[in-house]
Amino acid sequence: MTSSNEKPSLLSPNVANSNSGETHIRSFVHRRAHITPSQEQALARLLPQWSITYRDSILKPATLFGNDNPLILEIGFGMGETTQKIAQARPDDNFLGVEVFNAGVGALLKRIDDNQISNIRIIQHDAVEVVRDMIAPASLAGIHIYFPDPWPKKRHHKRRLVQSPFIQLLTSRLKPGGYIHCATDWENYAEQMLEVLSAESMLSNTHNGYAPRPDFRPLTKFENRGLRLGHGVWDLIFTRNDTPTPELNWPKKEQ
Ligand SMILES: C[S@@+](CC[C@H](N)C(=O)[O-])C[C@H]1O[C@@H](n2cnc3c(N)ncnc32)[C@H](O)[C@@H]1O
Repeated sequence: MTSSNEKPSLLSPNVANSNSGETHIRSFVHRRAHITPSQEQALARLLPQWSITYRDSILKPATLFGNDNPLILEIGFGMGETTQKIAQARPDDNFLGVEVFNAGVGALLKRIDDNQISNIRIIQHDAVEVVRDMIAPASLAGIHIYFPDPWPKKRHHKRRLVQSPFIQLLTSRLKPGGYIHCATDWENYAEQMLEVLSAESMLSNTHNGYAPRPDFRPLTKFENRGLRLGHGVWDLIFTRNDTPTPELNWPKKEQ
């Protein structure tokens, strides 16, 4: 997952400690992964058209999309299969996909181009920094985190995205009534998600525990195969309540 388009990370290679003692999750590793010629071409040709470069200033979604439709943030869209299907099924919502993986960004750019999709924009950067620096408080209608890297070894659990400090930051970016939807096929991560989301005072569970998969989230090939093999998948859908956003002591860049 190396990227010539990627900004140098502002984080140290593992988990960056802030002055406040909070941790800044480093949820991905840069790996060399196969990228097809068509994904490479899509990156070269389409990245300027459909992506925004990371910067330390708040995004203006209405300018970016040319309309005021509700904005959904997707973190870690992988190859963009789900992103494409949801964006096509929900033309009155805007989707901002954040992904670090070069081949995945190329793949989603190609899907956007092949299918003439106008309601997706991409940021190829660490989602933690994007949310912290570019997303205005109380501005999102929804957040999708589908099958985030499970980091199965216990000593790597600190790399998991769904942890209290990041969920608190994410929740602060949701409008009251906005939702956060997570899905995972790792039972132990599902339990962690349920615990972390349930503990967040600004969120309310829409179900008693796990949610049924909503119709708008399509089954991916990978998920279908897992289900056939008898593996479980857990969805969680929480909404932001009206509690005012507390002052967040979220770490800015490393000193
Ligand atoms: C296991 S894949 C799942 C992809 C996709 N959501 C799906 O359901 O198939 C997790 C993805 O999250 C991306 N990712 C992990 N941490 C990230 C971060 N901090 N910022 C952006 N993308 C991240 C990885 O590059 C990877 O493509």
